[in-house]
Amino acid sequence: MNTQPPLAIVIGFSSTIGRAMTQQLLDRGWTVLGFSRRPVDLYHDNLHRMTIDFTDETSIEMAAGFARDIMASQKRTIDLILETAGMLHTDNIKPEKSLRDINMDAFLKVFQVNTFGPALVMKHFLPLLPRKKKTIFAALSARVGSISDNRLGGWYVYRASKAALNMLIRNAAIETGRRNKDAIIVGLHPGTVDSPLSKPFQSAVPEGKLFTANYSADRLLSVLDTLTPQDSGALFAWDGQRISP
Ligand SMILES: NC(=O)c1ccc[n+]([C@@H]2O[C@H](COP(=O)([O-])OP(=O)(O)OC[C@H]3O[C@@H](n4cnc5c(N)ncnc54)[C@H](OP(=O)(O)O)[C@@H]3O)[C@@H](O)[C@H]2O)c1
Repeated sequence: MNTQPPLAIVIGFSSTIGRAMTQQLLDRGWTVLGFSRRPVDLYHDNLHRMTIDFTDETSIEMAAGFARDIMASQKRTIDLILETAGMLHTDNIKPEKSLRDINMDAFLKVFQVNTFGPALVMKHFLPLLPRKKKTIFAALSARVGSISDNRLGGWYVYRASKAALNMLIRNAAIETGRRNKDAIIVGLHPGTVDSPLSKPFQSAVPEGKLFTANYSADRLLSVLDTLTPQDSGALFAWDGQRISP
């Protein structure tokens, strides 16, 4: 009988939400392979780490190779892959209020982290999924990436990067489902979470709607527990609600 604990890969685990999800998986007894661009001050015997940069495909390929080697040496298969990095603003990039504000540099930088990076992560990590086992790949997307839900406008580049991510998730779910009928590939909306990403916009958040990362992480992991292969390709919010594309 296999008595090994479940195994998760968390890609971008230096993010506020990724770190909280990693901590909660470790608290639940999981083994975690954590990949991040910046070192994370989180230490645990069951946490193995390596660097990854979404702007560098070689680093993503090497991270997948590291995960493959660990699984082979420990004779384990993967149970869960989380992609938790993302970008909304930087010192030089502000979410656009108008078409006038769009510029190519912001487009490229935000898409690199929110869309191109996750696509390359799927390219290199989805082949690690076992063929006959329920395994989940979940990427942190955002409700603002839903086209049908968009009533406010603005945030052109971020919205477009997450809408494109949602399409990539759907595509990868279709392709992976042909190989592994038990695989579940989904996007997740974490709610509005207190983090550097949301910091400049928190004054507009209604009372009680700004979550701690721990609360969101706990809710998201509970949502993942309920998913079935029929849910593959969809986007789910922190409360389990399915968000239409
Ligand atoms: N917070 C919210 O309210 C909210 C709402 C909806 C969706 N989300 C989504 O949830 C995810 C996590 O958000 P968060 O609030 O936890 O963000 P966060 O704390 O601001 O962290 C963002 C992360 O993205 C990483 N990153 C940026 N560029 C990277 C690159 N080139 N390669 C690898 N990693 C890179 C950063 O790495 P470094 O540590 O190296 O800088 C950082 O760990 C994002 O996808 C975000 O869009 C968040």
